[in-house]
Amino acid sequence: MAKVLVTGGAGFIGSALVHRFVELGDQVRVVDDFSTGFRRNLEDVLDRVELLEGDLAEMSTAEAAVRDVELVLHQAAIPSVQRSVEDPVASNRANVTATLNLLVAARAAHIRRFVYASSSSAYGDSEVLPKVETMPENPISPYALTKLTGEKYCVVFHRIYGLPTVCLRYFNVFGPRQNPHSPYSAVISRFANLALDGQSPTIDGDGEQSRDFTFIENVVNANLLACHADGVQGMFFNIGTGERHTLNDLVRLLGNIVGHELKPVHRESRTGDVRHSLADIGKARRLLGYEPKVKFEEGLRRTVAWFQGNR
Ligand SMILES: NC(=O)c1ccc[n+]([C@@H]2O[C@H](COP(=O)([O-])OP(=O)(O)OC[C@H]3O[C@@H](n4cnc5c(N)ncnc54)[C@H](O)[C@@H]3O)[C@@H](O)[C@H]2O)c1
Repeated sequence: MAKVLVTGGAGFIGSALVHRFVELGDQVRVVDDFSTGFRRNLEDVLDRVELLEGDLAEMSTAEAAVRDVELVLHQAAIPSVQRSVEDPVASNRANVTATLNLLVAARAAHIRRFVYASSSSAYGDSEVLPKVETMPENPISPYALTKLTGEKYCVVFHRIYGLPTVCLRYFNVFGPRQNPHSPYSAVISRFANLALDGQSPTIDGDGEQSRDFTFIENVVNANLLACHADGVQGMFFNIGTGERHTLNDLVRLLGNIVGHELKPVHRESRTGDVRHSLADIGKARRLLGYEPKVKFEEGLRRTVAWFQGNR
């Protein structure tokens, strides 16, 4: 049984990690300021987790969060490109200051592993596909820059202090509990809920932009592997599926799943968004033993089914 801290544990990815660790019988602490997360994401496990409400940009919260912990899964962030364009200072505070505080506190607490939720946005809009970890980074939004800065801090903390960090560059994660109701919500949770309501989704641009959409269960598996793999400290890994789908594909598949054709409306594309994204997952396969077991369509089916039962 490990003592685990999940930061941002009331959020989409964090709550999925919390559920998995609880299932495994680990002792779980969550720290969250509920800025984009929800208590309801943890309601069925609240009696089995320790919940610490606080802002990790405050050093005292970071210190309290890591006390007596072995594994840190750092998911807390303001995870939106658009919000970072509107308020880069807030994104920097939540994504960089909070990460630095947590690293400093984790070092003092002698944790065993620190896994950081990094982002494929590090690669920017380079047209080369797939994205490989050896490619130069080119962040094109404040969000991407803050996430990459957090990642670099993890690498540097390993190099100079020997802190056992591992960074996972997630590629467009989707699945149950992802918030569909904010203007900043990710596309699949929004479109799935519109489809269930029989409404048309609005697509930014022509819909031919593509993403390596990764079902949450694959991401949770990657985090568990990153907690325990040998010889990967100080490294960063792409976590995706190695396949990409356009938004037009997504809308068509969602139509098939809900049983009626969806006719999207198109509007102008957004500042800071990349056109295509696709992960090379060879490094994660080789060194973490990662395999994306749940494919896109299966993940979509499971996501729609979950929203259908939890609205
Ligand atoms: N969802 C994706 O497709 C995706 C892709 C790449 C990277 N990521 C990264 O994965 C992580 C989780 O993303 P998510 O989609 O679950 O987002 P989310 O908004 O659902 O979860 C983030 C959580 O962090 C909490 N939080 C934010 N600032 C905090 C602070 N200062 N102190 C304490 N808690 C704070 C929020 O309340 C929320 O519960 C983020 O770091 C994000 O950058 C996500």
